[in-house]
Amino acid sequence: MSDVTIRPIRVPPSMDAPEIVDLEALRQLRNAHARQVHGSSAYDLTLPQVLAAWQDQADRTVIGRLAERNGLVVGTVGVDYLPDAQSRTAGVMVRVREEHRRRGIGTRLLREAEGIAADLGRSVLQGWTEHRHSGGASVGASTGFGAVPRDATAAFALMHGYRLEQVYRQSTLDLTATASHTATLGARARAHAGDAYRYVSWLSPTPAALAPALADLKSRMATDAPSGNVDVEDGEWDAERIARIERHDAVGGVRRLIGAVRHMPSGMLVALNELNTSPADPTMAHQNDTLVRAEHRGRRLGMWVKCATLARLRELFPQVTRVETYNAEENRPMLDINEAIGFTPISSAGEWQKRLS
Ligand SMILES: CC(C)(COP(=O)(O)OP(=O)(O)OC[C@H]1O[C@@H](n2cnc3c(N)ncnc32)[C@H](O)[C@@H]1OP(=O)(O)O)[C@@H](O)C(=O)NCCC(=O)NCCS
Repeated sequence: MSDVTIRPIRVPPSMDAPEIVDLEALRQLRNAHARQVHGSSAYDLTLPQVLAAWQDQADRTVIGRLAERNGLVVGTVGVDYLPDAQSRTAGVMVRVREEHRRRGIGTRLLREAEGIAADLGRSVLQGWTEHRHSGGASVGASTGFGAVPRDATAAFALMHGYRLEQVYRQSTLDLTATASHTATLGARARAHAGDAYRYVSWLSPTPAALAPALADLKSRMATDAPSGNVDVEDGEWDAERIARIERHDAVGGVRRLIGAVRHMPSGMLVALNELNTSPADPTMAHQNDTLVRAEHRGRRLGMWVKCATLARLRELFPQVTRVETYNAEENRPMLDINEAIGFTPISSAGEWQKRLS
């Protein structure tokens, strides 16, 4: 352990700069971990994507450390936080190369991260973990809904005083087997919603005229989606933030399909459903935000916006055969819709939190 040193991650100005090796090492650890939990390369990131995310820290600042042993990067940690003096939370992500685990490297990196957070005045640390179902012992969420396997990740988090505040279910939808079913559900939901509503959709980049309405809908995710005991801080949403996200998407060849429902009498967008495709696996789409404005719930707009956007996905991206999504286990309204559409659970993810004293 004494031969392991920890140093800051350097963010290079371009792909050609020598410091790019730091981000490449980080990317390799990240992708290896993603492949381990997902069993495929569908969640891989390219080096230009990682560089873009570290260079543009307008929405979340990231500080990183590398653990090195004999010149080899054996672990990484990142602390990310809102660039807002009022904010009290910080996200933390530790990864240790598989052959170097159980030697205290993760603990050293986590302590380093907690020190960085404390120095920044961030007293609530949060961690997102992903797990493969193992069938063995598990850890339940403090919400009472869902559990994650008691694997290395969970044991490490518990040992360091983190509490499992929420469990997310990862589910998949087989698009090849569900087209007519989704069409039927969508048509029924549309008829139920009535003539006051109209479905619209577009591909990123979001037209300037729609960006403020999209930002407003996305700002509601932080307040309206169930968050258990997690202190959610999401920052401000505006048209510039949408443009920044979509610029990052473009670097990685990510396409964003946005479906929305407009309330015709007021002209407002009142429901949202976003899907992404990525070159990492062109046969898969990732489900992002789904939301219906509180005043318009109970009219089956959630079912309609999801089914209509899945239909657009089929038309625009015929190579996509499945969609993956994450939902909080206590989010019954969303799970009801997804289960009716045909999503089935495949694994789980955890949202952990620790309050520094
Ligand atoms: C979680 C992770 C970072 C731990 O790194 P590590 O260097 O092996 O951790 P440490 O050696 O410091 O372990 C500290 C303690 O955590 C617990 N722990 C870690 N791995 C464990 C395992 N496989 N089984 C049971 N307990 C484990 C133990 O209590 C351990 O202390 P001990 O070895 O004295 O018994 C590493 O397994 C990893 O990279 N996992 C994939 C990425 C991830 O899930 N990161 C967490 C998200 S923030």
